[in-house]
Amino acid sequence: MIESAYIHIPFCSHICNYCDFAKVLYQKKWIFNYLDALKKEIQLNYQNELLKTIYIGGGTPTALDLEEFKYLLEIISTLNKQKEYEYTIECNVESLTEEKVKSMKQYGVNRISIGVETFHKHHLKIMNRHHTKEQVVEAILLLKKYGFQNINIDFIYALPNETIEEVVSDLCNFLKLDIPHISTYSLMIEPNTPFYLNHIKTIEEELDFSMYEKICRTLKKNGYEHYEISNFAQPGYESKHNLAYWNNAFYYGFGLGASGYIPEIRYTNTRNLTKYCNGEFCFNQEKIDFKTKMENEMILGLRKLEGVNLIQFKQKYGKEMDSIFPIRQLQKEGKLQVHNRYLRIPEEQLYLSNEILMQFIDT
Ligand SMILES: C[S@@+](CC[C@H](N)C(=O)[O-])C[C@H]1O[C@@H](n2cnc3c(N)ncnc32)[C@H](O)[C@@H]1O
Ligand code: SF4
Repeated sequence: MIESAYIHIPFCSHICNYCDFAKVLYQKKWIFNYLDALKKEIQLNYQNELLKTIYIGGGTPTALDLEEFKYLLEIISTLNKQKEYEYTIECNVESLTEEKVKSMKQYGVNRISIGVETFHKHHLKIMNRHHTKEQVVEAILLLKKYGFQNINIDFIYALPNETIEEVVSDLCNFLKLDIPHISTYSLMIEPNTPFYLNHIKTIEEELDFSMYEKICRTLKKNGYEHYEISNFAQPGYESKHNLAYWNNAFYYGFGLGASGYIPEIRYTNTRNLTKYCNGEFCFNQEKIDFKTKMENEMILGLRKLEGVNLIQFKQKYGKEMDSIFPIRQLQKEGKLQVHNRYLRIPEEQLYLSNEILMQFIDT
């Protein structure tokens, strides 16, 4: 059963120097064509399921003007929601107006994710981010005024020449905002981004590790649960939408470059805006066989601190986990452990999770 939908809005008012997402510079002439195509894609594929989570991401959904933004919300209102649902929109603070906040409230949005990244002006400038700390504080006050409590902020660390003191200062400032969810990302230099083309290098591995450790320790000390490699939440504020991904659940992906997983197919939409607007939505599809499904269950599930439930795995796949994967060896090496019938990566090994997860592919 499909209970989640991701919707991609690719327009941004400026392009950040590190970004590899499917995005284009906002141009008014594209917007209604794009939204009409999105509406068509949803009408063609959506089977009227009651959804538990909806996530509108980008790009920058709030880069749309008020009329366009309301049209987007109207299109998404055709998706049926369960009684207890989570409906998230990604917002950039420069384009978040009171009218847009009111519209989100009116259409039942109940979770907001904001790209804050850092408060250091010189880093924001190098990243080509256009907001200020004051705008972030104001936006959060505005959201709270309209009853939005469930807010996430995205935080990027390991920026070029960043020091651990700067990371600590960002963390202190974020904590003052009293936000229930923080997603943290170590900067990735993605091919063909301005950072990559300008030969910007990532910081030393050792420093990156120290920053990660510092973030984990500080957020835990301040009441956040570290529930996924990069994600921290106050109790009850875990992202239900992202948990659907990590639980290997089905979800629709609508919009430019969006990915989806529907029984038993993983698909990715085109990143070509002209093609998308002309109704050529899908770029590729892959049938997920039984073995790949089990691998995904592990690779995604082990990102969660709680890990993967051994009993549920057996019920779902009819096989013992250790009859398929090299779990015993990894346990001996201290890279995996069993706790309360869950197989998990010990917290102190999380930084090496990529290496550990590789062991679950093609065994
Ligand atoms: C699609 S973007 C967020 C939405 C919004 N457009 C914004 O930038 O504020 C999702 C998040 O991914 C993270 N991100 C994007 N590119 C990244 C990169 N190259 N390295 C690390 N984190 C990245 C940023 O924290 C960003 O906020
Ligand atoms: S990071 Fe966000 S705002 Fe910046 S270009 Fe990418 S999607 Fe747009």
